[in-house]
Amino acid sequence: MKTIKTAVIGAGGRGSLYAGYALHYPHEMEITAVAEPNPARREAFRQRHGLAPQACYADWRDLLAGPRCADALLVCTQDTMHYEPTIRALEAGYHVLLEKPMSTVPAECVDMGERAKRHGAVFAICHVLRYTVFFATLKRLLDEGRIGQLVTIQHNENVSYWHQAHSYVRGNWRNAAQSSPMIVAKCCHDMDALLWLAGADCELVSSFGSLAHFRPEQAPAGATARCLDGCAAADECAYYAPRHYLTANVGWPTAAISDDPSYEARLRALREGPYGRCVYACDNDVVDHQVASLQFANGVTAAFTMSAFTYDNDRTIKLMGTKGEIRGAMGKGELEIVEFATGHRQTIALRVPDNGQAGHGGGDFVLMADFLRQVRERVARQERGESGGSAAGGGQGGRTSADKSVQGHLMAFAAERSRLENRVVRLEEFYK
Ligand SMILES: NC(=O)c1ccc[n+]([C@@H]2O[C@H](COP(=O)([O-])OP(=O)(O)OC[C@H]3O[C@@H](n4cnc5c(N)ncnc54)[C@H](O)[C@@H]3O)[C@@H](O)[C@H]2O)c1
Repeated sequence: MKTIKTAVIGAGGRGSLYAGYALHYPHEMEITAVAEPNPARREAFRQRHGLAPQACYADWRDLLAGPRCADALLVCTQDTMHYEPTIRALEAGYHVLLEKPMSTVPAECVDMGERAKRHGAVFAICHVLRYTVFFATLKRLLDEGRIGQLVTIQHNENVSYWHQAHSYVRGNWRNAAQSSPMIVAKCCHDMDALLWLAGADCELVSSFGSLAHFRPEQAPAGATARCLDGCAAADECAYYAPRHYLTANVGWPTAAISDDPSYEARLRALREGPYGRCVYACDNDVVDHQVASLQFANGVTAAFTMSAFTYDNDRTIKLMGTKGEIRGAMGKGELEIVEFATGHRQTIALRVPDNGQAGHGGGDFVLMADFLRQVRERVARQERGESGGSAAGGGQGGRTSADKSVQGHLMAFAAERSRLENRVVRLEEFYK
């Protein structure tokens, strides 16, 4: 099996996680270079992967300015920094795995998909849900006709109060102009999953939602701008920062507040950094609840709800077909399927793959394995002198494709446009 040489742009949370695949499966993937401006992160990454100092860059532009140093490139920078490195990497002949959202601009999503086809590159987006046992099993049960013809889907993204506060009130995705609207940042995964399950193109979208709670006028009496400034509401506030970040858990999400996990460094981060701010005194503007109704070309409909106001951070779904229904909660690792004619109920316990990565129900590493397989096939064809053709040509393809990823993103952009303009939006508006 050919080991795929891989370079990483952005050695933050996601870049480090995906690169970790090389440590578990060194015969499949070798990290050959990294670009990361944060010196501490860059050095930690360098040591973890045994890189020479000259293979470590402070900026993606420097990495891409030199000769091609890998077969594949992972683009794991923040939302607004995806487009440029991706098109430059495609032009330089890399196969690219790009974090979601592809871009915060719809036209850039379409452009990247088209460029990848022109360059004959493997171009995959980190839509991890397709790679989870939960969604893969739902798709298989539908394809087997276990509930007859699918008619409608009810899908909930239960973000949970603490995850909303961490990422979408205090954290990197709190402000739509600086990152992207909530439905793009968080729910492009869900849109992609709904597109996959519905099995047809999405045609119409309508959506409502707002920022209901995380605003100054909702602050309890005695709240201070920072939790550690003697907040009088500390005891009853679910968002009191020390309760979340000064615990024994120094993994995600606490790891995001400070590169140094020591208690002192975390305390300093809460006194000075964004994660110590009162959730009612941040510069956030993304919604904390949003619903979307979707109609697909085959008549299937879907009702989607994203909410911060849940205890569990989980996705729950109900698929309703002509002969039965399937219900599931991803976090429970369980599906229930009921057949109308017999009343027969079956509970299916799902086994999360033991692949060294629990993130997204094991999906993170399944996605990486699938991407590497596609690159391996494409490189082999190129080495045999076969044209390789378009991204869709030859090989088994991946579980997702640039075309589908683009459409999933456009569904999210359409939902946001619908919410802002109070009207039903046709997906074809975006392709035009
Ligand atoms: N697929 C998923 O489920 C999933 C989950 C979380 C986040 N994400 C997405 O992944 C992306 C990265 O998120 P994250 O949590 O890892 O963020 P992060 O901030 O931890 O990592 C981004 C890294 O990019 C680096 N960077 C900044 N400028 C750079 C430059 N010029 N050249 C090279 N690197 C540069 C930053 O220093 C940082 O270390 C985001 O777009 C996010 O929306 C996807």
